[in-house]
Amino acid sequence: MVQLSSDDQTLFDAAEAVRAKAYAPYSGFSVGAAILADDGKIYAGCNVENAAYPVGNCAEPSAIAAMLAGGGKRIEKIFVTGPGASPVTPCGGCRQRIREFASAETPIICLGVEGEPLHTTLGELLPHSFGPEFLGR
Ligand code: THU
Repeated sequence: MVQLSSDDQTLFDAAEAVRAKAYAPYSGFSVGAAILADDGKIYAGCNVENAAYPVGNCAEPSAIAAMLAGGGKRIEKIFVTGPGASPVTPCGGCRQRIREFASAETPIICLGVEGEPLHTTLGELLPHSFGPEFLGR
């Protein structure tokens, strides 16, 4: 893998640590997400699958829930890791969930651990998005 900045390496390490705890017996596709929040802390979460497939959770909402529970309010950066060589990008629903707590400029780093990281932003992954300000927030 190409060299990561030390901040990104810290996020990667957190995403990988939580990915090892993922509950993904059905897909075998373990995902970890680590958020650097506005309070300077890192919050991580993994995917949680379910025998009733549609009610499984992705890693990103788990990390968002950890952030809110821990006192963070905004996503400054998020790192998503998963298997394989292709960057593991947030699914469509997760892009919208990230949108609630981030801006178009928020960096998102996506990695399949056998490949190279994709450095992108929420605005690139979810252009022309709908968010809280449309509702006066
Ligand atoms: N998954 C995530 O956790 N995040 C994503 O953004 C992509 C998909 C999980 C959901 C499911 O448990 C597994 O990966 C296979 O889709």
